[in-house]
Formats: sequence, C-alpha cells, structure tokens
Amino acid sequence: MTFPDYENKRVIVTGASSGIGAAVATALVELGAEVHGAGRRAPTAEVASFQPLDLSDQASIRGAVEAIGGHVDALFNCAGAVPMLPAVEILKVNFLGTRLLTDLVLDHMSEGGAIANCSSDGGYPWRKKRELLIDFTSSPTFDDGVAWYERNAEAAGHAYSFAKEALNVWTMQQSAVLIQRGIRINTASPGAVQTPMLDAIEGAYSAAAIDPVEYPSGRRSTPEEQVAPLLFLNSDGASYVNGADIAVDGGFWAAQSVAGALWNE
Ligand SMILES: NC(=O)c1ccc[n+]([C@@H]2O[C@H](COP(=O)([O-])OP(=O)(O)OC[C@H]3O[C@@H](n4cnc5c(N)ncnc54)[C@H](O)[C@@H]3O)[C@@H](O)[C@H]2O)c1
Repeated sequence: MTFPDYENKRVIVTGASSGIGAAVATALVELGAEVHGAGRRAPTAEVASFQPLDLSDQASIRGAVEAIGGHVDALFNCAGAVPMLPAVEILKVNFLGTRLLTDLVLDHMSEGGAIANCSSDGGYPWRKKRELLIDFTSSPTFDDGVAWYERNAEAAGHAYSFAKEALNVWTMQQSAVLIQRGIRINTASPGAVQTPMLDAIEGAYSAAAIDPVEYPSGRRSTPEEQVAPLLFLNSDGASYVNGADIAVDGGFWAAQSVAGALWNE
C-alpha cells in the first residue's frame, strides 16, 4: 500500500479554480489521477475535463454530473460560497447543492469509493443544535431544504455556519448508510486558510474578525496544508475511516472543546 494511492484513480474536485480545491486538484494531477474539475470557474491544474457547475442550481448540478459520467473513485467537495452572500444562496451552495451533487455522483461509485467534504471550523457548533440539524437534513429534496430554512431561519442562525453544521451531521448520517455499499464519507474542517475566500471575508469584516480562529497556532494555514488530510480521507489507506471529521485548524477545535465552547453544558 502506498499513500497517497491515486495513480489512475478517476476523481472529481469541485471548486478547483482557487484556494483549497485548486491545491487539491494540483496534487491529484501530480499523483497521476484522472481529475475532473467542476465549478463556476475553470481549474488552474491540467485536469482531464472541466464541467461548469453552479451548486445553487439543480439543473446545473445534474448537467455537470451527467457530463462527467463514467465510474468515479473519489469525490472532493471543495467548492463553497462566502458568508457574505444572501442566506439561501449560501445554504444552497454549501449544503443542499453539495448534497445533491454527492447523491448523483454516488450513482457512479462502487465499493471502495470515497467522498471527502470540505467543511469548516464554522461547523463545529453542530453539537449545540443536533436535533434541529437532523430535522433539516431529513428534508428529502433540495427544494424541501430551502423551504425548511425559510421557515426556521431564526433558529438556524447564520447560514454559513448552519450549512457547514448540516454538512457535518449529514456526513455522519450518510456514513452509516454508504458503508453498507463499501463507500466511505468524511469531512475535513479547515480553520483560517489564506485563500480568496478569506481575503473576501477580511474585506467585508476585518482582519480582527479572523484573529480568534488563529488561536492557538497564531497563524493561518496555506491552501497546500489542507491537501494531505483531504487526500488521506479519500485514499485506500483510510479504508476504516468513516463518518469522521479531521480538524485542520492548528488546534482551534481542541482549544474550543477543552474550553467547553462547542457543547451545551
Ligand atoms: N478559507 C478559509 O479560511 C476556509 C475556512 C473553513 C472552510 N473553508 C471551506 O473550504 C472550501 C474551499 O474554500 P476556499 O477557502 O478554498 O475558497 P475559494 O473562494 O478560494 O474557493 C471556493 C471555490 O468554490 C467555487 N464556488 C463558489 N461558489 C460556487 C457555486 N455556486 N457553484 C460552484 N462552485 C462555486 C469557487 O469558484 C472556487 O473555486 C469551502 O467549502 C469553504 O467553505 C474555507
């Protein structure tokens, strides 16, 4: 067994035009994978194909998965919308569209397949609203999910955190279902990563708004530092890792957990 074992693997990377997705796609191409990029803009890496994809649009999602077609070994859900967009748009891109795309890609996966979802430190507080999140993730369709959010927006809180919390809870729910088919699904949760998304957040709020998330490492991550955990999750070397979340945040999750900030005491 070699790690990372991606030679000739057929993989999809969403959001490969910048930031974490671009770094993941670049690494996978270097490792000999057949990489299919999907997103709003073309990947920077020399991928096998690029399919335009808008995760807020169901027809676009269906079209992209159909166009890629064929067998898929691994899916990297790296695309994500910034927290400053309208709430429903964020929810569509960061959870409902990502979920729909994953469900459709699963039709192209078989035993040994794996899915890695790029979540966020913003999703850590799922533990505080588990029942609400399970109610939301039980919304069977994309449209049902939008309608649920419109009814429950106040209880849900900020759409960026809520969508990432939902991604974590849904990933854990799906892990028990998909493992019956020999398919694994996990999340990695980046802390502050110096990407165009973080530049935009800093522009809209302030650098000081990001400082607390840099505790205790005292710095931000590069996109490249996010790659190995994601590649590990979707590799054969992680064959018994399922429904897990890897915090890739320099110790922020650990500090928050020990301080009791992520649970209702
Ligand atoms: N940068 C951070 O500090 C940070 C922290 C925690 C989590 N994350 C998560 O990491 C992931 C990657 O973010 P990043 O920091 O690399 O940001 P980025 O802005 O560099 O990349 C985001 C990617 O998503 C694509 N995208 C945006 N909206 C889309 C849509 N509607 N349909 C399809 N693709 C769309 C963009 O084109 C881009 O390729 C996201 O899911 C983000 O939520 C980032």
